Formats: sequence, C-alpha cells, structure tokens
Amino acid sequence: MTDIGTVGLIGGSGMLGRAIAQGLLDSGALVASDLWISNRSGQAPEIGNHAGFTVTRYNDTLVEACDTILLSVPPAQVPSLGIARSDKLFVSVMAGVPLATLHDITGSPRVVRAMSSPAAARRLAYSPWIAADAVTAADRERVSAVLGAIGLEDEIGNEDHIAHFTAITGPVPGFVAYFARCVTDYAVASGIEPTIADRAVRQLFLSGGVMLADEAETPAEQVTAMIDYAGTTAAGLLAMEDSPLSDNIARGLEAAVEKTRRMTGG
Ligand SMILES: NC(=O)c1ccc[n+]([C@@H]2O[C@H](COP(=O)([O-])OP(=O)(O)OC[C@H]3O[C@@H](n4cnc5c(N)ncnc54)[C@H](OP(=O)(O)O)[C@@H]3O)[C@@H](O)[C@H]2O)c1
Repeated sequence: MTDIGTVGLIGGSGMLGRAIAQGLLDSGALVASDLWISNRSGQAPEIGNHAGFTVTRYNDTLVEACDTILLSVPPAQVPSLGIARSDKLFVSVMAGVPLATLHDITGSPRVVRAMSSPAAARRLAYSPWIAADAVTAADRERVSAVLGAIGLEDEIGNEDHIAHFTAITGPVPGFVAYFARCVTDYAVASGIEPTIADRAVRQLFLSGGVMLADEAETPAEQVTAMIDYAGTTAAGLLAMEDSPLSDNIARGLEAAVEKTRRMTGG
C-alpha cells in the first residue's frame, strides 16, 4: 500500500471536504494524526467518530505541515488562500478551476485537478483527475492512493473532460432519484400504498445499482442480455428504446454540462 504521508484539507469542514476526510479516515489509509484541516473559522468539523486530527485557521501552517494538500474551498475563495509553496503537491477538487490557475495560486508546478463527490464519505466517490506535466511518478502514485481510498479514481489525459465529469458527477445520483420517483409514481398510481412503494423502490434500486457495479458485463451488455432473454424486462426495455427516452437523457446531461460551464466560466 502506498504511504500517503500527511494530508492537508483546505476547506475540510465543508460538505465535500468533510466527506473526503471521513472516507480517508474510515479507509485506514490515513490516521487522524496525519490529517490537517484548515478553514476560516478554525472550528473542528465532526467527522464520524474520528478525533485527533489538527485544525487550523492558517492555510500556510497547514501547507507547511503536509506532504499533499487538497483544495476544497468555493472557487471564489481561491485568490485569498495565501498558499504559495513551490515545493508542495496540490490536488484541487474545486469545480472549474483550471490547472493553469492552480499553478498561479500555489506557485507549485506539481498541481492536480480532480473532481469528486460527497459519496466520498461512503468511499463510493468516482474521482477522475489530470496532472500537470511536472507531477512526478511518485506524486501520481500518492494521488491515486488518496483518491482511491475514497472510491474509484482514474487519471485522464484531457482537461476538458473534467467539465463533463463535473456535470455528470453531481447529476447522476439525481437522475437515478428521478427514475426511482417515476417508478414509485407508477406503483402508487397502480394502487400500492405509498410507504410500501417507497420501501420497494429503494430496495430495487439498491440491488440494481449493486448488480450494475458488480457484474463483469458493461451496462450495454447487460441490457442486450435482458432483451435477448425476451421476458418482461425485455418488453419494458424495447418500449423504452422505441421512445425518445435516450435522447432526453442526453439532453438532461447536456443541460448539466452547460450549467457547469456557466457557473464556472469554463
Ligand atoms: N459539495 C459538492 O457536492 C461538490 C462536488 C464537487 C465539487 N465540489 C467543489 O468542492 C469545493 C467545496 O465545496 P463545498 O460544497 O464543500 O463547499 P462548502 O460546504 O461551502 O465548504 C467550503 C469550505 O471551505 C472553507 N473555506 C472557505 N473559504 C476559505 C478560506 N479562504 N480558507 C480556508 N478555508 C475556507 C469553509 O470553512 P469556513 O467557512 O469556516 O472558512 C468550508 O470548510 C468547491 O470548489 C466545489 O466546487 C463540491
């Protein structure tokens, strides 16, 4: 297992920062004494039952103490961070902050731009990342170990794709919730008691999600296999394939990408 050294989370008391801290500590990849958190209030966040991490109001003190520094503050706060340290490895999970800006604010050529999500608290995040050229092989191993401790991670080669991942990361759980709502509405309209419909739909989506993730076949292969089986699922899938549903899902994702670009100026 790669030794991830000391980790500093600037903004570690925010929604995403807290989730990352929880996932890292729960994973055992990081012990609390190797975790630093900074924020403007200096107040310690609640991170599960974990204790023993260091909290400071001073971002530069955190940077001094840590090997890897994660940036998780609102993008508007970026200019006021005061973290110029050319010899440190910085990993940003901030939406819409390009590698070039990360280099400018940190003074370090060793910068990484990543995307993640609050699913990190359950160690279920998907975190794609792209590294500046000066990021070393050892740095890359460390980034992979840190982001791998909170879920799945992939190094990608095209910075533009981070905007797409930014748009997909947030909405996909919302889209799943929307589909689940449609199924619940159908069940209730068929006369099933709402609390029973709710329990059933949650359990069905849980098992569907776990199977989707665990089966070796891709989602497309799973759909083909179900259509080939020609049972009740096939009847439903063929009716959906014959509808504008797939185009409408793509429209939903495009709208999310557009909104991300508008919000981040990216
Ligand atoms: N939340 C998500 O689902 C999500 C998903 C993907 C990406 N992101 C990105 O993650 C970043 C954080 O989002 P969030 O939702 O976690 O925001 P948030 O809940 O508002 O948390 C922001 C954190 O930053 C701290 N902070 C603000 N200004 C600071 C400064 N100058 N120095 C040190 N700490 C500072 C805040 O603490 P104080 O107020 O005490 O300073 C708080 O801990 C954003 O860039 C966002 O684009 C978020």
